[in-house]
Amino acid sequence: MLRVDPQKPDREKIQAAANIIKNGGLVAFPTETVYGLGADALNVKAVLALFEAKRRPLDNPPIIHVHDADDVYRLAKEVPSKAVVLMKKFWPGPLTLIFNRSKAVPDVTVAGLDTIAVRMPRHNVALALIDESGCPIAAPSANLAGKPSPTTAKHVINDLNGRIDVVLDAGPTHIGVESTVLDLTVDPPEVLRPGGTPYEALQKVVGKVDLDPLVLADKPLPVKKARSPGLKHKHYAPDADMILVEGEMDAIAAKVDELVKVYKNEGKKIGVLATDETISHYNADIVKSLGSRTDMATVARNLFRLLREFDEEHVDVIVAEGMGVDGLGLAVMNRLRKAAGYTIVKAASDSQR
Ligand code: TXA
Ligand code: MG
Repeated sequence: MLRVDPQKPDREKIQAAANIIKNGGLVAFPTETVYGLGADALNVKAVLALFEAKRRPLDNPPIIHVHDADDVYRLAKEVPSKAVVLMKKFWPGPLTLIFNRSKAVPDVTVAGLDTIAVRMPRHNVALALIDESGCPIAAPSANLAGKPSPTTAKHVINDLNGRIDVVLDAGPTHIGVESTVLDLTVDPPEVLRPGGTPYEALQKVVGKVDLDPLVLADKPLPVKKARSPGLKHKHYAPDADMILVEGEMDAIAAKVDELVKVYKNEGKKIGVLATDETISHYNADIVKSLGSRTDMATVARNLFRLLREFDEEHVDVIVAEGMGVDGLGLAVMNRLRKAAGYTIVKAASDSQR
């Protein structure tokens, strides 16, 4: 583990990490969203080692990270005008764009697809590493497949210790959920994964934007075509069983109470994933707050860390509160529903009963 300054990363440490990338090794590094596990996107062996280290299915391609928006012109077959506008507005930042691809990267890097996912991260360590490595960097989130994404270097070590070459530790990440994945091979563009760039912000810039039905599914849907292969795999799952309670805040609080009593009677250790507005209300073994319901940026930043903490504290069941889906709330709810494996309880308020 190498400590680096998030603002002004130490040149020598970046060079050491870049040498590992150039030699086909694996470097975990911070981005503004979550920590990524990087490999030279042009090196077949390195990319295969990346899938292996994460135990990631080979049909789920990583995102290609670039240090300069112009690099897109080598990776994409064509760059639609909406992409140009989006890159200007949101890069560097938490927005991944899907293009029809050129032959610049090997087939394994894109899992045999005709498309490629590209993003330019807003983090000085990530940008310096890509620049110094002199190649595009393939980087999925630096967790074991299926686990919550890592927002600290310690999370990376917990999952990948002994399986990778180095972690650049620049402290906790700022956004806490992954980038928004936007498909630009269709028009209107379609959000395949909600993330750090809000849906509403995309609409403001390019007009109509579709939402893949999987984004807010409240039950597992069959994935017909492998548009975004990652969507069909299990995701963000803590070791504990997890139940998500959705509805109005008061109804949620009442339903969570009820569930806590049921699980207590069964002798289970219970963790409640609450909010500032409700935290004092509960009487469970462990109660944690994601932050205020009026501050989704804080909720997003805390989400994966708290799911991992519950696992470290060996709770049997996590009962989590649902949120609104405005702004970053859409990404938060998408992760919560998946983390719960779609075990969702709808809490009805008195007037609805
Ligand atoms: O914020 C992020 O995006 C983080 C940081 C490290 O940049 N990365 C990340 O990567 O979350 P990963 O591999 O965990 O998620 C990438 C998602 C997956 O759902 C994958 O299926 C999708 O992007 N994806 C990759 N290539 C694709 C493609 N050609 N078409 C559609 N979806 C694609
Ligand atoms: Mg991931």
